[in-house]
Parts: sequence; C-alpha cells; structure tokens
Amino acid sequence: MIQIEDIRRGKMPTHVALIMDGNGRWAKQRGLPRTEGHREGASRVRDIIDACLDLNIPLVSFFAFSTENWQRPQEEVNILMDLLSQSLDKYTDEAIEKEIKLIVLGDVQKLPAHVKNRLAKVQERTKNFERLTVVLALNYSGRWDILEGARQLAKHAKQNPDFDPNTITEDIFRQFMPGGKLPDPDLLIRTSGELRISNFYLWQLAYTELYFTPVLWPDFDKNEFLRAIVDWQQRERRFGKISEQISRND
Ligand code: IPE
Ligand code: IPE
Ligand code: MG
Repeated sequence: MIQIEDIRRGKMPTHVALIMDGNGRWAKQRGLPRTEGHREGASRVRDIIDACLDLNIPLVSFFAFSTENWQRPQEEVNILMDLLSQSLDKYTDEAIEKEIKLIVLGDVQKLPAHVKNRLAKVQERTKNFERLTVVLALNYSGRWDILEGARQLAKHAKQNPDFDPNTITEDIFRQFMPGGKLPDPDLLIRTSGELRISNFYLWQLAYTELYFTPVLWPDFDKNEFLRAIVDWQQRERRFGKISEQISRND
C-alpha cells in the first residue's frame, strides 16, 4: 500500500485529467451486462475525488461522455445518461459538504433534459466553492473545444471591425475555447490499456505527462490513483528546455 503522507511530501499536480475506459470489458469479464460496468465505474469517480481531496489536488477532470459516444446503441446511451442523473442526485449533498465545485464542459444543449436540469442545479449550488474543482467532460471532444474557440473568436472579430488578427496569441485564443480557461493538465491518466487520447483535451495536453495503465476503470481505486501520482512525481518535465535550465528555474 502506498502511504498518502509520503506522496504529500512531494510536488503535487495542479490538474489531473482522467479518461475512464474499460467499463464494458470489466463487465464482460464477469459475464455481466455492460451497464454493470458503468455502474461500478461511477463509484470510482467518487473514490478518485476523495483521493484528490486527501492530496490537496485542486482540479480534476473526468472524460465521461465523448461526442463520438452517441454512436453507441441507444439503450447504452440512455443508461449512461440515467446513471449520470442518479449519481448527481446521490452525491450533490456530499459535494456541497466537501466544498467541491462542479463544472460541466461540453456541448450540453444536446444532453437529455433530465441531465441538463440536474447539471445546471449542481453547478449553481457549488459555484462558489474553491477547495476542489471537478470538471465533467460531457458531450465533449478536443476538436469541438478548439472549433468552438474559433467560432467565438470569429464572432468577436465580426463585432469588432478594427480587430487585428495578428494580435491573436495562444493565450488570447484559448480564452475563447470553452475548456481553455482552466490550467492545462499536469497529468493525464487513461485506464484499460488503450494507448490513445480519443479526442479528449487536444490543445491542453501539449505538455502533459501521460500515464497509461491496463487496469480497467471499475478497478481503478484510490491506490491505483496514488501509483499514478507517485509515477508522475518522478518525471522530469522539460518543456523543450534542457535539464540544467529546469533545475535552475524550479
Ligand atoms: C468507458 O468504458 C465509459 C465510456 C466511454 C462512457 P467503455 O464503455 O468504453 O468500456 P470498454 O472500452 O467497452 O471496455
Ligand atoms: C473514451 O473512451 C471516451 C470516454 C472515456 C468518455 P472510448 O471507449 O469512447 O474510446 P475509444 O472508442 O476506445 O477510442
Ligand atoms: Mg472504451
């Protein structure tokens, strides 16, 4: 078992992002319907949030439903949306008690009304909390985020005829992206052994440390999360510089 006190002594990521994958395979291995994998997986979200609170990690993002996931059978999509509603009902009071702020990131207009309503309520009730921010990426994709940024910037330029395109910097552009105002993830974790990003934070992952594990999401417990953090603490991030510069600037 990894000791939380040992990890706390080291540096801590500001933002951890997670691609929760492998619910279907977890269920299949047990001869259960895929739904059961999603149900068990939903409980892990709570466990990882608890681990973030323990470690004082201020920001965590969960990739919960991608723009491509609509292509799954309608029944599975419905079940995922129902589970989301149920989880929001179940955990909102606890989130408020623990001073957690929930932010939803994605094209929410396309979500079913029962999900949209609950999300709006939870976001409103938790908007002033600062202890831990939880980002739920729902009907989200990295390309959507960048495209939406381009659309908003184009609108801004249209309304301001004197706008000079040469003034657009990375920092300015990202302010127009729905997911651009948050700090970039320091660590991305993907479960289930797949070695891909699957259209999650594309802009934001430019210099993120990547951690891939074969563990399926429903088995990704607190200890697995701590292992990922320990691994990250041993990485040297160079951002294109050389080692001596990093140690000098740290
Ligand atoms: C992740 O598990 C949940 C979502 C993408 C919504 P999967 O449902 O993708 O599980 P596998 O990849 O089929 O095992
Ligand atoms: C990534 O998982 C999306 C989410 C976790 C929401 P998928 O299961 O959809 O990814 P692919 O299809 O294996 O790339
Ligand atoms: Mg999958």
